[in-house]
Order: sequence, then C-alpha cells, then structure tokens
Amino acid sequence: MAKIKKQFFCKNCGTAHTKWNGKCSACNEWNTLVEEVVQKEDKKEITRTWRADGKPKTEPILIQDVQTGNTKRTKLPDSELNRVLGGGLVSGSLILLGGEPGIGKSTLLLQLALRLPAKIVYVSGEESEEQIKMRATRIGLQNATCYLLAETDTQEMFKHFKTLSPDLVIVDSIQTLTSPLLDSTPGSVSQIRECAGELQRFAKETNIPVFLIGHITKEGTIAGPKLLEHIVDTVLQFEGDHHYTYRILRTIKNRFGSTAELGIYEMQSGGLREVENPSELLISQKDDDLSGSAICATLEGLRPMLIETQALVSTAVYGTPQRSATGFDLRRLNMLLAVLEKRCGFHFGANDVFLNIAGGIRIDDPAIDLAIVSALVSSLQTIPIDAKICFAGEVGLSGEIRSVNRVDQRIQEASRLGFKQIFISKYNLKGLHPEKYDIEVIPVGKIDELFSLLMS
Ligand code: TYD
Ligand code: MG
Repeated sequence: MAKIKKQFFCKNCGTAHTKWNGKCSACNEWNTLVEEVVQKEDKKEITRTWRADGKPKTEPILIQDVQTGNTKRTKLPDSELNRVLGGGLVSGSLILLGGEPGIGKSTLLLQLALRLPAKIVYVSGEESEEQIKMRATRIGLQNATCYLLAETDTQEMFKHFKTLSPDLVIVDSIQTLTSPLLDSTPGSVSQIRECAGELQRFAKETNIPVFLIGHITKEGTIAGPKLLEHIVDTVLQFEGDHHYTYRILRTIKNRFGSTAELGIYEMQSGGLREVENPSELLISQKDDDLSGSAICATLEGLRPMLIETQALVSTAVYGTPQRSATGFDLRRLNMLLAVLEKRCGFHFGANDVFLNIAGGIRIDDPAIDLAIVSALVSSLQTIPIDAKICFAGEVGLSGEIRSVNRVDQRIQEASRLGFKQIFISKYNLKGLHPEKYDIEVIPVGKIDELFSLLMS
C-alpha cells in the first residue's frame, strides 16, 4: 500500500508546510494551516534536464521575436461581461467568478451559455440537469449547442471535453470538483489547487477558455478563491446586497485588461439584465424636493455614475446622540460632522444623524464628501436642495474643498443626465473648460462658500 503523505497548507496563501505552525511563515497569518492528506498516483520521476543530456520540451524565444496581436478575443453577447474582461473573452484564458452564495453566479454564466452561439459545456457539481433546465426555462433562452454535464471527477470531465471539443467550458463550482489523483476531500485546499491547476493546463493546451465559479463566504474562511487568484488569469467578483436587485461585477485581477472596469446588472424574475445607465437605479424617483438629499457625481472604477446620498438629522431622544451610516465609513461621517461644526458653526451635537447611500451601494470615492455635507446641512436646516444640482469634491479638515480625479468625466455624465449645476473644487479648474459643457460648473474653495451659494 502506498504510504499516505500528510502536509499542511495555509488557507490564506496556499503555501505547503511540512509541519504545523501557529503562523504561516509565507504570509504571516495566524491559525491558517490545515492538515491535508496528499497522495499522488505514480508521480513521474522528475527528470533533471539541466543535468542529463535529455532535450528540454520548450525552447527559449527572443523577446523581439514574440508575435503579438494574435490574442484572439471573442465578443460575448453580454456587453457588461465584455467590459470587465477588457474587451472580450481571450481564448485559452481561465476566469474565476467569485461571490457569495445566492448572488447570481450560476445565473450569469448560464445566461451566457444560452446566449453565446458556440458549443458550450456547462459542468455542474452543484445542481442536477433538471434544476439547471428549470433555471434556463426561467431565463427564457434556448441554445441548441449547450451541453450540461453533471460530473465532479476532473479526469472524467476531461474525457468528455475531448469527445465534445467545446468552444467554452463553464465549471460550477470549483469547490465541488475532485481530482482522482488526490485523496483529500472535495473543497479542501489541496483539491482546489489541483483541480484548478488541471483546468489551467487544459485551457492553455487546448486554447479553450474556461469559466470557474468559486464561492466565498462572508467570513472568507473557506479555502477557495483567494488561493486560486494566483492560478487563474482573471478574477471577477460578483457582489451586491441580497435586499437589492442590482449586482456589480468587478475585476479583481486581469492579465488581459484593466482592473478598473465594472459591470452592472439587475436581477429580475427572468434573469440578469445588463444595466447601461447605472444612475437610473441609484437616483430615487421623487416628485417634490425633500430636504436631506444630495446627488454626487461619483466614479466606480472608471465608470461615472450619479448616486443619491440621504441624511436625516433629528433631535436625539436619548442622552447620547446616535450616528449611523449605511454604505459610507462611519468615521468619515464623524469627521465631516466635526468639520461642519468647527468651520461653519452647524451644531449636530444634540442630534441623531443617519446617513444612507441610496441603493445599498458602498462608496469609497472621496468625491462624495461634498454631497454628504450638503445633505447633512440640508436636513439640519430643512432646506431642500434642487434635484438638478449635483456635487463632486472632497472635504478637507480645514473645510477646504479638495480636487478629485477625472472631474471631466463626472461633469460630462452629470450633463448627459440632465443636471443643471455641478459644484466642484476650484482646484479642479486647471485645464478645464467649464464653458464647453451644457451644465453650469460652479467652483468652490471652502464649504462655507458652498452653503452661502446653496442656501441663498
Ligand atoms: P444563483 O445564480 O443560483 O446564485 P449563485 O450561483 O451565486 O449561488 O442565483 C440565486 C438567486 O437569484 C436566487 O435567490 C433566485 C434569484 N434569481 C432571480 O431572481 N431571477 C432569475 O431569473 C434567476 C434564475 C434567479
Ligand atoms: Mg450557483
């Protein structure tokens, strides 16, 4: 009987260790080492080609002789997916789609499989063929060349690929696959690494692109996507709040394009709809002007969008006033309140302050500060802000309004959506031609200037 070999792997970075340690010596994380049983069948003896006279398999090539421009990109029928992939699907690439359970990963890729006019194999270890068929019926699409394969054994899977020779492979999910070359259980660190490695070799050798679905949990404890990031070419993350219908597809890593791209979808009863104009979702439709709401021209990745910030300032019922922020950093809210107090004399001390970014989205863009201070003051003074006004600027500790990046894109988007005025930092004016826009660009230097303009 073959001797069982045990090794310890770090759940965080995947490094193999020979003995257990409290701390991973590679990534310095604590308590991340897990024991795995490793047993590779008849592993070929490693040939030391640098010593023996055996010819190596590969040839080195001079960098100037490398042919470029032949990376074949297939345009997918999904414009958002094309965008995040950097302009289409590169043949032979391995793409990981990560996300929490139930966010819509299977739906996204099944929809792609049904819409792409090519031979596709959708491998599912999660659901039966009937379940997938039911979902396809729900989406309401049909594709005569989409095969379903309920298989979890990688070697069996490759046999099917050989006979079918598909144009695209989708694997749902990497955590359910098992390689017969290893003994450990599906979903364990070594299995995930091995299966992803096998799929990567498959993709590179056959030039068939492979989509892999990977789960992450809220705590991020299950071994998976984090560890796979090194192996795959592209990592996409599907995010969203379960209580809202839209989903954001983000690029975390891309060997063939920018990571600043973003795709937006809306989950409907009949599948995912591509959202071309995200602002439509993020600005609430209301007829009359209400106080406490201000619109920010923000950027998510490279994509400009207008988003509504809402503030509610009310008299505190209890001794200690509450501060609560949804979709925004609470510490930053406290800082902005302190700036308003110190620099403009607005007193929030005896008030509860609630802040909400509409649509359940989370914003890290500092340009949202200006809209937030405006919403706060608007609610405090019960003065509504005209719905045709928007803001883009960062607020500094001394109450100065700092410049933000890509202001031109923000102004253009606001103008395209029919806004009449945009407040920006006066430091952003350099190189900008405010007269070329259809929207009135109002530069301001300090927040007290802003309020005297706004509330006059
Ligand atoms: P699913 O793709 O199964 O998520 P994942 O693979 O990431 O776990 O999607 C699950 C959710 O999406 C489920 O709660 C139902 C919802 N859904 C819709 O709202 N509309 C649809 O057309 C489909 C197919 C799913
Ligand atoms: Mg699924």
